[in-house]
Amino acid sequence: MARTAIVTGGSRGIGAAISIALRDAGYKVAANYAGNDEAAQKFKAETGIPVYKWSVADYDACAAGIAKVEADLGPIDILVNNAGITRDAPFHKMTREQWNEVIGTNLNGVFNMTHPLWNGMRERKFGRIVTISSINGQKGQFGQANYSASKAGDLGFTKALAQEGARVGITVNAVCPGYIATDMVMAVPEKVRESIIAQIPVGRLGEAAEIARCVVFLASDDAGFVTGSTITANGGQYFA
Ligand SMILES: NC(=O)c1ccc[n+]([C@@H]2O[C@H](COP(=O)([O-])OP(=O)(O)OC[C@H]3O[C@@H](n4cnc5c(N)ncnc54)[C@H](OP(=O)(O)O)[C@@H]3O)[C@@H](O)[C@H]2O)c1
Repeated sequence: MARTAIVTGGSRGIGAAISIALRDAGYKVAANYAGNDEAAQKFKAETGIPVYKWSVADYDACAAGIAKVEADLGPIDILVNNAGITRDAPFHKMTREQWNEVIGTNLNGVFNMTHPLWNGMRERKFGRIVTISSINGQKGQFGQANYSASKAGDLGFTKALAQEGARVGITVNAVCPGYIATDMVMAVPEKVRESIIAQIPVGRLGEAAEIARCVVFLASDDAGFVTGSTITANGGQYFA
């Protein structure tokens, strides 16, 4: 029986690449998204992967959404916490809303998705939790006190929960991408993008598919001895 995976923010950017790579590796995949119906429907039409709309920032919506996915596809074995947002501002200009939105999606969202799935994984003695953190959670970034805090929090969560999952067949790992050519990065002004590329030793942005391949490995049955770890995939920009 093929295992079932859910990818949050799985219809665009890195998440879309992860959904497709997991499908190609033989998994049943559900892709969650927040609000961009047009992109989600296009993704579904092109890939055949079902899409499910709810916000990971809302615990009850996560529990209900997960129940719907499990009714459609069966128990979820693999959770990829990929949904993430930025609301950048230097700290003296950062609003409470900017802080709360980013923590609500990037950190609380990881709790909100993992918590309703945890007991099922424990009972079935198998689970794979993979969270997409960021290079900026490892090194910090000017203008991203909120984002860096949320992504560093994801790494603490990963290391703590890995200890709880180890005896019941659940691995908990993270991937820290560097700068990847997605909407999030392509939205920054070209000059800023050029200065980012100048800081990447391999001399280019990463591809979403390169992050997806890390996730496919961590999600596999073969990766059962890898837990509490972080794969850093940033073109040599920062050695954590
Ligand atoms: N791009 C990079 O260079 C980079 C680097 C390091 C880490 N990351 C991390 O990688 C992940 C994916 O980034 P990306 O660049 O692929 O982002 P993206 O292109 O902006 O796509 C973000 C995805 O997350 C979904 N999403 C946002 N808020 C959500 C919510 N509250 N509930 C459910 N889904 C939500 C979006 O849904 P809609 O389509 O409905 O908007 C979209 O599918 C993020 O966690 C990001 O922090 C990215």
